[in-house]
Parts: sequence; structure tokens; C-alpha cells
Amino acid sequence: MRHLQPKLLFILALLIFTGKSTAQNNTIIEATLEHKVDSVLSLMTLQEKIGQLNQYNGSWDVTGIPSDIDNKTKLEKLKNGDVGSMLNVLTVEATREAQSLVMEHSRLKIPLIFGYDVIHGYKTIFPTPLAESASWDLEAMKLSASIAAKEASAEGLHWTFAPMIDVSRDARWGRIMEGSGEDPFLTSAIGVARIQGFQGNDLSDPHTIAACAKHFAGYGFAESGRDYNTVNIGEHELQNVILPPFKAASDAGVATFMNAFNEIDGQPATANSYLQRTLLKGEWGFDGFVVSDWGSIAELIPHGVAKNKLEAANLAIHAGSDMDMEGRVYEDGLKTLVEQNRLDIALIDDAVKRVLRVKFRLGLFDDPYRYSNAKREKTDILTKEHLAISRDVAKKSIVLLKNEKSLLPLSKTAKNIAVIGPLANDKDSPIGNWRAQGEKNSAVSVLEGITNAMGKNANISYAKGTDLSIGERSFLAPLTLNTTDTSGFNEAITIAKHADVVLMVLGEDAFQSGEGRSQANIGFAGLQQELLEAVYAVNKNIVLVLMNGRPMEISWAADHIPAILEVWHLGSEHGNAVADVLFGDDNPSGKLPVSFPRAVGQEPFYYNQKNTGRPSANKEVTYSHHNDVSNEALFPFGYGLSYTSFKYSEVKLSSNSFHPNETVTASVDITNIGKREGKEIVQLYIRDLVGSITRPIKELKGFEIIELKPGETKTVSFKITAELLSFFTANKKWETEAGDFHIFIGSNSTVNAYSKLEFVKN
Ligand code: BGC
Repeated sequence: MRHLQPKLLFILALLIFTGKSTAQNNTIIEATLEHKVDSVLSLMTLQEKIGQLNQYNGSWDVTGIPSDIDNKTKLEKLKNGDVGSMLNVLTVEATREAQSLVMEHSRLKIPLIFGYDVIHGYKTIFPTPLAESASWDLEAMKLSASIAAKEASAEGLHWTFAPMIDVSRDARWGRIMEGSGEDPFLTSAIGVARIQGFQGNDLSDPHTIAACAKHFAGYGFAESGRDYNTVNIGEHELQNVILPPFKAASDAGVATFMNAFNEIDGQPATANSYLQRTLLKGEWGFDGFVVSDWGSIAELIPHGVAKNKLEAANLAIHAGSDMDMEGRVYEDGLKTLVEQNRLDIALIDDAVKRVLRVKFRLGLFDDPYRYSNAKREKTDILTKEHLAISRDVAKKSIVLLKNEKSLLPLSKTAKNIAVIGPLANDKDSPIGNWRAQGEKNSAVSVLEGITNAMGKNANISYAKGTDLSIGERSFLAPLTLNTTDTSGFNEAITIAKHADVVLMVLGEDAFQSGEGRSQANIGFAGLQQELLEAVYAVNKNIVLVLMNGRPMEISWAADHIPAILEVWHLGSEHGNAVADVLFGDDNPSGKLPVSFPRAVGQEPFYYNQKNTGRPSANKEVTYSHHNDVSNEALFPFGYGLSYTSFKYSEVKLSSNSFHPNETVTASVDITNIGKREGKEIVQLYIRDLVGSITRPIKELKGFEIIELKPGETKTVSFKITAELLSFFTANKKWETEAGDFHIFIGSNSTVNAYSKLEFVKN
């Protein structure tokens, strides 16, 4: 093909494509791709094949335990074609340099693929993934992922290790901030939106990057919420709760998967051939590659299923882990295994083909430097437009949890506002953990946002009150909390005494959540609770602005403080977005993607629980409950207030029973009965009353965002099909069982009113 003139190639392509449907054209493209992959593979030695399965860390960022390899050896390996991918190599200059070692020295010149954790923005930082999920706004999340891709690709990157689509029901788990919360349906929808945002329609467009569905699977179910801990779940929980987002990601064409650190029922995910081979690459037909998590192949040794690196390599490659991220296990082990006749070369070939496929799709064989564009690096990163979009997504992510006597919104001419708390003028925590190239202290703080909004007439007094953390704050540094120094309390109390309204900005430091940041306590750390109560003693007119990565235990505040605004860690434009909502320029519309418990002892805590055999909520002792805390959430999944209010009509069904291949429409009228225009996230839930296995008391099955003017009514309809009601049954397959269902439509997961629907099979 090389010798053909470009013009001739163009005519040939036209001839092939003209008159064919998109599906036919895609088949032709895929067939051509397979042909190219096979022809490259046929040229490769075993050593070169193993090189493609080997990923090394660069040192531009450190997102795991640093490796012990010296730079000289690394360079030699790159030149030799012994490395197929690098992570944490950033900037046009660095990616060009690393790529050129391969292109200029290796025999086959197979380009490297550069990966990085671009989790919620690259340099323009968006809300943390959990925060952004509170917007339920799929288009907004798609857009933010596309901007992250545009910025990352402008620095030479090809691939992000995102989205994390681990369902998690445990607020103690530090990485809950990186996902979309506790619900499989919402997590699936958001995962797909983010994949579409990162990848766009065409992976070879240098403004897009390959996505990675992680962590396959079960990582969010670590016992006691302790990161990396054992996972013990049954088959039905795995199928019905954990796997649906991964199936959706695979169907959406995600380029890669990452497996997980954890074991499930005695089998580490990295060595799990049912998940990776039977399901993902078999039943689901996924043709991209699976990268291990950082060192997770080598971790099969401490897990206690492999006695040495050779055995770890053997388990992982047989189970379908294609690329070894910093485990340094495949580079030596695979060759030995082939020599010992313990590994069929066909398995290596399959893994290599998967890696090559993605590299072809990214267009790297056409031009290995196409993403390393010095001009774009200057123009495409941290632009005003990107910041404006970040502010917009941030506003949508804010959840109004409480607003007694309509304390909010505040007037911009409010006489005297006291802004208090360790996070009030914190320009770093809003960037959150997993911040990629988001610069330290680069966010707009809440204090700055409020000052910007009020302008010259601002009458704001500020006191930090207490430090939350002291010392270094970074990805790998342990966080030190301040638990002794109360010297700032007096100043805070003094300004609170003279204020008309007090904004208490409390919550979590950026590095209280994220990888390795699990906590046994999820209340206010340090001396924040004491500060809150001291201020409350002198002024009860408090708005609590809550900044956090996870759901927190805030029962005292919920009982005493009249207004609470959940603002999470909102990224670069944090303070401006918070001010937009505080002063009512924007009417909050976010809804919680996770339940807030009343006490940490309730965790794991989630709305879609099972009924149990003892569900009664009467006064007797012998039903399923804690003696000291109510079973109800403090703030439930799907919950969030607005500055206006909405009234729901009864749920109307187009029919009360239906058969396979039929559709029922469930609809509801929603009226804005308040005085302001507002947005509402309308939610559809179902309950399957009797199943071959026990079924959750409620399951989210649809949602829609509507905007209503005061007095306006809109009808929202959802289509109910047999597929929507299906689950992994006692027959060990996905099917819909005949029987009765309750159909709920409401503003959060505690909605009570339902209509009855029967599914009839014969
Ligand atoms: C994390 C992954 C991440 C990888 C690379 C691991 O420690 O679990 O989610 O993508 O490091 O930074």
C-alpha cells in the first residue's frame, strides 16, 4: 500500500465505500484492520510480542508505588522494543522523546501507547466523578470527558484510565469519590456517557483518547470499605449489581478494560478467567485489551495464589490479563512459560493482537507523533471556554440538602456575611484527588467566589477557625489532621456573633478520599464539629457548605443547621459555582448518587436493599434494624431540593399488564408549584414483588431532567419493556420473570406511590 499514490488510495476508498451502508462500511474497516494487525503480528518475534504486553511507568507523575528500575535500563528496553506502553509520561516533549526511542531504534517500530489517569479533567479540573454524577446530566458529563480528552491529547496522551465504573455502597471506601455511586443503572448510563466523551466517534481523531473501564471487577465492595481488601460477594450480586456497568461499557465500544486489585470469593480479579475470558472476551465479544492494575499481576504473590513471579505470570496470562502495568512479571515470565511448554503461544498472540488493534484504531501506525503537537499544547489547555464549561458542570453537581425557612438563596446585598471554616479559603481541596495536571492551589475558593459575586458592596468577614490538615498534601503522602490547635476558634466566634448569616465551609480535604484513603469514620475530621457547635452557640443562622469526596455522617448538623448545601470538590471553578447557587443566580438541581447514612455503623448503606425476612418497621425488637439508629437514610439516594418545589401526579400506565415484545408507557405530570423556574430530575423505580431469587425493594430504571417555569406542568413518560425488568435469575441467565411489579415515579428513592404492573409470559 505504501507505494500507492494518495490520490489513487482515495479513489479506491471511495469505490469501496460508495453505496454501502454504515454497517457494511464498518465491517470493511474492521476486516482491513484485522488484516493489518495480522500482518504486523506475523513479523514479530516472541520477544517483541512480549514487549507489547509490557507497560512501564514514566516519572512525570507518580500514581503508584515507584518502581525500582533505573532509567538507563528503561531507555535500553524502549530502544529494544521491549515496552509496548508507558503511563505517566506527559507533555509533547516527553512523549515525543520516548516515542522516538522506539521509532528510531527498535526493529519493528511499533508505536508506544501513552496512558494516564485523566479522571476528572486534565488541567482544567471538573467536579470529582462522584460529584459530577450528582448532576445526572449525561450530556454535561460527556462534554467534560471530551474536554479532558482534548487537553490530555494535546500533551501527547492517547489513553485514559477512566471511567471508574465500580458500583460502591460503602462511604468508608476512599475511591467512592471516583465512581458514580451506589446504583448500577445510573453508573452504567454515566459510564457510557464518559466513554463517549473521551473516545468521541472516531478514536483516530487526535482530540480524543481511548477510555478504560475499570476496575474489573468488584473493587468497590471491599470489606469494611478498606481499600484493596477482600471482596466476598455471591454470583447474583456480581451479575446484577457489579457487572451491568461493565457490560454497558463493552457494548458502548470502550477501547480497554483494567482489572482489579481485589479478590472475589478467593480468586483475585487479575487471575479470574471467568470474568476476563468467559464473560468479557467471550460472551460480550470485547476485542480491545485488558491492562492489569498497577502491579496487580505481581500482587498475586502476596494474595497467596502464586508462589513466585513466574507462577503469577502464568495465572494472569491464562486468565486473560493482556498488559502488565508495572508488575514486571510478563517481561521475564512469559518467555520461560513458552519454553517450558506451559503457555500456548496462541494466548500471547491474542493478547498482542488486542493491543495492536487499539494502536491501529488510535491512528498511531499512521503517525506515532500525531498526538504530540506543540501548537495544540499551547492553545488547547486550560482555555477560558473550558473553565466556563467546568463552572457550568460544577453548578449542576451541587445538591441542596436542607433549606429551612428558605434561608437560601442569599441576597447579594446581605448586610454582613461571616465566612468560617478550614475549607472556606482552601484553593487546593476543590481540585480533589486524582487531579491529573490540575495545579496545586489553583481552584477558586468559596471565599473568592463569594467575594467575586458580591462585588464592591461585599461585607464579608472571614475566619478559618481551625486547620483541617497540616503538613504535606499529595497523592502518596499520608494526611496529617489537626486535632489539637483551637487557637482560631475565638476569632471565628467573634465574627459569627456580629454576622447576619454565617457560611460554615466544612467537610473533607482533597486527600481524605481517593486511592488508599479509606476511613473508618466519616464525620467531620479534626476539630470541625467542635468549631461548628461553638459557632452555632452564638449564631444559629448558619448555611453549612459541605465540601467532600464521599457521603459523610452529619446527623448533628442535619438536626441543627437550617441550610445545608452539598458542594463536593467541584474543580477549578469551585467557588464561583458555589456562589452562583448560594446567591440564586442558579437554582440547584443536583440529586445524590449515594445515600447519606445516619451513622457510619450502617455502612454499607444503599437504597436498593433487600427486604429480608424480617422487614417490619413496627415497635418490636425482632425485625431487621439497629436499636440506636433508624433504618432510613439521613439523605436518600436520588434526593436533592430546589429553590422551587414540584408536585407529582399519580403514575399512569398505558396498560396494567404486558407480554414479551410489548411496551408499557408509565407517565406522570409534574408541576412547578413554587415561584422560581427550576430543574427536576424525575426518577423511575421498579420493584419486582416475587422472584426466583430475592429482589431489591426498589431499583432505578430511568430518569429524565426537565425544566419548569412557575405554574408550568410537563408530562414525563418512560417506556417499560421486558428487558428493563430482566435480571440474572436462579436459572443463571438474564431473563424477565412473569409476575407483579410496582412502578414508582418520583423525586428520589423514597417515593411511595406506585402503580401495579403485571408481566405475563404466555
Ligand atoms: C489504580 C488505577 C490507576 C493506576 C495507574 C492504580 O493504583 O488503582 O486505578 O489507573 O494505579 O495510575
